[in-house]
Amino acid sequence: MSFVIASQLDESFNAQLRAHSSAPIVIDVPEETPWAAASQADLLVIRPSREWGRIKALARPAEWPGNLKWVYSASVGVDFYPRWLLDAPLVTCGRGVASEEIADYVIAAIYLQTKDLETVRARGPGAWKQAPLGRVAGTTLGIVGLGTIGSAVARRALAARMEVTAARRRSLPSPVRGVRLLDSVAAVVGSADHILLALPATDATRSVIDAAILARAKPGAHLINVARGSVLDQQALLDALDAGALGFATLDVTEPEPLPAGHPLWTHPRVRLTPHVASNYTVVRHALFDKIAADIDAYLRGEIPSDVVDATTGY
Ligand SMILES: NC(=O)c1ccc[n+]([C@@H]2O[C@H](COP(=O)([O-])OP(=O)(O)OC[C@H]3O[C@@H](n4cnc5c(N)ncnc54)[C@H](OP(=O)(O)O)[C@@H]3O)[C@@H](O)[C@H]2O)c1
Repeated sequence: MSFVIASQLDESFNAQLRAHSSAPIVIDVPEETPWAAASQADLLVIRPSREWGRIKALARPAEWPGNLKWVYSASVGVDFYPRWLLDAPLVTCGRGVASEEIADYVIAAIYLQTKDLETVRARGPGAWKQAPLGRVAGTTLGIVGLGTIGSAVARRALAARMEVTAARRRSLPSPVRGVRLLDSVAAVVGSADHILLALPATDATRSVIDAAILARAKPGAHLINVARGSVLDQQALLDALDAGALGFATLDVTEPEPLPAGHPLWTHPRVRLTPHVASNYTVVRHALFDKIAADIDAYLRGEIPSDVVDATTGY
């Protein structure tokens, strides 16, 4: 019997899935009723479309999870989806697919903050003046959440001769040699010139970066959030920026997305806001396809596919 995949990904992606060596049947899933796949498919592939925001408010459908054996989230974060979605026999995610791209974004943010050549660009003899640039080597990057993104950033930062401190949830060693693990988020924030948020959005991490934690930051520190808006208390961030406790914030994520018109984060002089683009999907979609294809191979061989989501921790 053919393996049946219900997919929310785009038509060209689904055409690639159809060409997988297992010759699966691939069907489209209605955006509004993704649970319709429960009666038709073995695997449901989902992506974080806006429609999930509405579905999140709905009660768990009676037919869920039905005959489904596996749910595959294209995104590593599963916070976009209703909780009942994790109540399937197997849930896995696209962890790692975009980590290198996101790490490049973080390093770009650090260099823009410290070595913005545009600010010293000389357009004539009158502009031939000494102007101080900041420094990267010798400064400290503090990483909150040392998973695939945090690790990819840490490797780059160590190569740039930065000190790197980090906090993770579990009491395990650092996956990257040279990173100094600290025992609390507050200690990491207090140690850093650049603070990177790269932890998942879960019940435990909501507003984990609050006013008390931000009060520990070095004056002038630069905060970079590529995780989710919910991990950061946005009012506390604004207060810290206005009080000079923080120097600058680079935000690829906010809560909600987008922020309402007129929200102070849009135009704050010490905030650079980008529209959740760090993962660069058009570039990484091939990596996502390769990962899904390899995971289908593993599953059909009777093995456990990569990056199983733990429904109790939420990541
Ligand atoms: N901006 C974007 O476009 C974009 C794209 C992809 C992902 N993201 C976001 O980035 C997040 C991280 O991605 P990833 O691939 O690095 O995920 P990951 O590999 O699952 O890593 C998550 C890390 O966070 C740590 N963590 C969990 N709870 C924590 C807590 N309470 N305090 C401190 N650390 C905690 C984990 O600790 P342990 O290692 O000890 O478990 C792990 O090191 C995702 O969950 C997603 O929300 C954003």
